[in-house]
Amino acid sequence: SGQRNILLLGFGNVGRAFARLVAEKRDELAGRYGVSFGFSAIVDIGGAVVDPAGTLPVLDIHRHVAAGKALEEFPELGRPGLGALEAIRTVPCDVMVEATPTCLRDGEPARTHVLEGLRAGCHVISANKGPFIWAYDTIMEAAMERGLAVGLSAATAAALPTLDVAELCLAGSRILSVEGILNGTTNYILTRMHQTGCAYEDGLGEAQRLGIAETDPRLDVEGWDTANKLILIANRVFHAGLTPRDVAVQGITSVTPERIRRARDEGRVIKLIGRIAPSSHPVRVSVGPEALPGDHPLAAVSGSEKAVSFETDSMGRITVSGGHSSPLGAAAALLKDALRIALYHDRSLSRSSKASSNP
Ligand code: HSE
Repeated sequence: SGQRNILLLGFGNVGRAFARLVAEKRDELAGRYGVSFGFSAIVDIGGAVVDPAGTLPVLDIHRHVAAGKALEEFPELGRPGLGALEAIRTVPCDVMVEATPTCLRDGEPARTHVLEGLRAGCHVISANKGPFIWAYDTIMEAAMERGLAVGLSAATAAALPTLDVAELCLAGSRILSVEGILNGTTNYILTRMHQTGCAYEDGLGEAQRLGIAETDPRLDVEGWDTANKLILIANRVFHAGLTPRDVAVQGITSVTPERIRRARDEGRVIKLIGRIAPSSHPVRVSVGPEALPGDHPLAAVSGSEKAVSFETDSMGRITVSGGHSSPLGAAAALLKDALRIALYHDRSLSRSSKASSNP
């Protein structure tokens, strides 16, 4: 059912992995779903490449940028100095993908981009959590007023499905509790501490060398990456209206080798567990290290693996685990949302289809 044009904001690890995945899967997606995606603009710091027809040669761009060339250096397509807001307001697109470096303290600049994208009539998919931990209700109101969709898979544990399980697979059942291991770095560190008896700092060093830790690893080890994912899940699935001010968060920085040893002697395993208690008023979200019994479904989740477990009234307990924690995993989650929007939320009113059907 035709081409969908994407406006991509941010060309770092995740943005690039997404552009590349979409380009490589172009024919496969067209064959399987009858949907093809093109890029009408890619914006990065300092400039953009733009082609309103949605035919940007993404793999070439990818190759050149990987070789150290800036986006705006592209002959014909490069637009030096074109910023995200101007691109959002002037380049037609069906879907805007937000993958800019964003501050978690205020959610900017992604928060402004998301609201502007919706005002411009684009569906929005975000790899960033910032806008949605601070302004979830405002953003969703803006989306609903316009009949637009907002995709948050990449921001809620990426390749591990969390929102989709809750919203689709568990539809009609009541979710009594959500428990999750939602941060790969901390699970890796705790796993190493259990396996080798090493100190927390040694485990962190290894996780950093593997490239799974955030640039600022305090986000991981102090529990905030886990908390922010839970806030998004609670806001989306339970309409909780939470911000980081409303959650109790403890990380793993004070977990000692002694505490790990004691747990092991009791047949238990220390995990950084995020919890949502949906039926408390207000909905309660908490994060902290817990000594799980060996037969708990999350006890066997090891290394940088993540998992989420839902207790329900009518389906029993459902646990999902695995999925890449890499930029490819995040890119695949963005693609999933884009595909789903194209298949189920399409509106003939979006700007680029309006432009093409009514020139
Ligand atoms: N640093 C995160 C993790 C990945 O270790 O799971 C992004 O949320």
